[in-house]
Amino acid sequence: RSVALIGVPTDIGAGHRGSSMGPEALRVARLGERLAKRGMHVVDRGNLSGPLNPWLPPTDGYRHLEAVVAWNTAVHEAIYTELNAGHLPVMLGGDHCLAIGSISAVSRHCRENGKKLRVLWLDAHADFNTSQITPSGNIHGMPVACLCGYGPDALTHIGGTVPATTPGVFRQIGIRSVDEGEKRFVHEVGIDIYDMRYIDEIGIKAAMEEALAGVDEDTHLHVSFDVDFLDPSIAPGVGTTVRGGPNYREAQLCMEMIADTGRVGSLDIVELNPAFDKRNQTAKLAVDLVESLFGKSTLMR
Ligand code: ARG
Ligand code: MN
Ligand code: MN
Ligand code: MN
Repeated sequence: RSVALIGVPTDIGAGHRGSSMGPEALRVARLGERLAKRGMHVVDRGNLSGPLNPWLPPTDGYRHLEAVVAWNTAVHEAIYTELNAGHLPVMLGGDHCLAIGSISAVSRHCRENGKKLRVLWLDAHADFNTSQITPSGNIHGMPVACLCGYGPDALTHIGGTVPATTPGVFRQIGIRSVDEGEKRFVHEVGIDIYDMRYIDEIGIKAAMEEALAGVDEDTHLHVSFDVDFLDPSIAPGVGTTVRGGPNYREAQLCMEMIADTGRVGSLDIVELNPAFDKRNQTAKLAVDLVESLFGKSTLMR
């Protein structure tokens, strides 16, 4: 099985500039070489291209909607093509709005191949805003809502089928920042959220067991890894830090348990922002964790 690395250098959906440097920071941290060392066949496709960030204020509740559509259309095509070729796509973001393109492609692939989709959304945020309720207009706070059909036509139609997927496929882990209107909305649609309070109470192991329950040989597991999932004390290189996230060991266990399923079929690594980082430490940490996600373990298992 080949792993295809696809760089998507943009910060078009974010409220801070700099996640456009994420793909290169992951390469500098030797993501490809580390996975190859694990025995995986790795091909780096280079970067997709799209519009530059015009850095404008939001209009009608969206910042840069047109450019977000352009980037996500390119992401959808690239990820869909890799999946059809039997490759495991790893998207090197880029901000989290890009999950609209990647997950709509994964969902389409699953629909066309009779696979069940499960999405693990590792994040400090629920990313379930709409133009009506967003406090910022930043589209990286909206991808899950868009994928479930709540958003502008230009984004909800990217997968061809609307909605691209349903709230039932998502398990959100590590959540600790949900906006007022967003809070009501995620409750209303009933998305499955393992927030930090719940993880504090039952522990990361039990939480991951619940989130992975029902994953079987017919399941395509997509992991959308927003680096702000991690506690900022270990991962300062993101634009939207929220204190109180998983520590290093908790994050490792989370990745190891995902690896144990053997069902990972695609991955997003998003929101890494080298402009906020020091000596590329957050990129190195992300690479370390992604190695575990692909089966690195201390002892033979
Ligand atoms: N909830 C906030 C907003 O909508 C922050 C979203 C942060 N999202 C992210 N992918 N980092 O503006
Ligand atoms: Mn986030
Ligand atoms: Mn598949
Ligand atoms: Mn996010």
